[in-house]
Amino acid sequence: MAGPRAEEVAATFDAAAADFDRVAPEVWNPAGQALAFQANLRPGDAVLDIGSGTGSSALPAAAAVGPTGLVHALDLSDEMLERGRVKASDRALLNIEFVCADATTWEPPSTVPDAGYDALLGSYAVFFLPEMDAAFTRLVRLVRRGGTVGVTAWRDTALREFAAAFLAALGPHKPEPLPDRTHEMAPAQRLDSPEKLRGWLAAAGTEHVEVHELSNLIPATEEFCWNFVIGSGLRGTLTGLSPDTVARVRHDFLTQITDRGLHTVDATTLVGTAKVVGFP
Ligand SMILES: C[S@@+](CC[C@H](N)C(=O)[O-])C[C@H]1O[C@@H](n2cnc3c(N)ncnc32)[C@H](O)[C@@H]1O
Repeated sequence: MAGPRAEEVAATFDAAAADFDRVAPEVWNPAGQALAFQANLRPGDAVLDIGSGTGSSALPAAAAVGPTGLVHALDLSDEMLERGRVKASDRALLNIEFVCADATTWEPPSTVPDAGYDALLGSYAVFFLPEMDAAFTRLVRLVRRGGTVGVTAWRDTALREFAAAFLAALGPHKPEPLPDRTHEMAPAQRLDSPEKLRGWLAAAGTEHVEVHELSNLIPATEEFCWNFVIGSGLRGTLTGLSPDTVARVRHDFLTQITDRGLHTVDATTLVGTAKVVGFP
């Protein structure tokens, strides 16, 4: 595993794994399934799925490529992967390997054809990669010419009001002012419209780019809203707070949701796929 940033990501997602999975049916699974469909996988394909988490796109990919195909599902968090392994075992999917590895340094093992993977998938994952463009271009080169790459990313409207309500509730409970974390959002914001995602995929050495918008407006029940906070990147902001303070943040956050008249959580997602152009 490479460096403190990777360790921090692994620790965050290890801690979040159970809560992350609680919102999988509403948030992660629809996007992962849509990505696997749009990638047009075929029986026998070899697929690399990065930032796999608990398997939202890797599991449907494994079903699509069937017993003659294979899926390498990579993640830094072994807690997330372990949940994926259990799901694969429950579904008797034997063609998927959940591997604890850093996608930025992954080298395909000899079970992958010399020409490369048939497809690379990453659902809500690429914006976690340090040096996102260089890391993604390197991963694209692990795919054979004419193979498929596909990613999902948040639409610019997604999570905006939800995150604003949470941060407004959290602020007064933090001993120090909230640090400016806008730089952490910057990579995701580079992919947050169909035009931006299309341009970004093309710049990584692909053509025939297709981007579809997956509308997903999730009823803002109290249970879902809080689970989504503690099962997503927002969880990290609660680190260091006492259980009593976290309970007060939860209360104030749910009040914010009501006061702001937030009836749905906008989880609208872009699903982008493209074909790999040959490299010289
Ligand atoms: C938001 S989650 C998405 C998980 C899954 N794809 C889904 O949609 O349900 C992002 C995942 O990327 C993983 N991740 C971040 N950086 C990574 C890296 N360099 N290599 C492998 N996995 C990484 C995290 O550990 C986390 O599980």
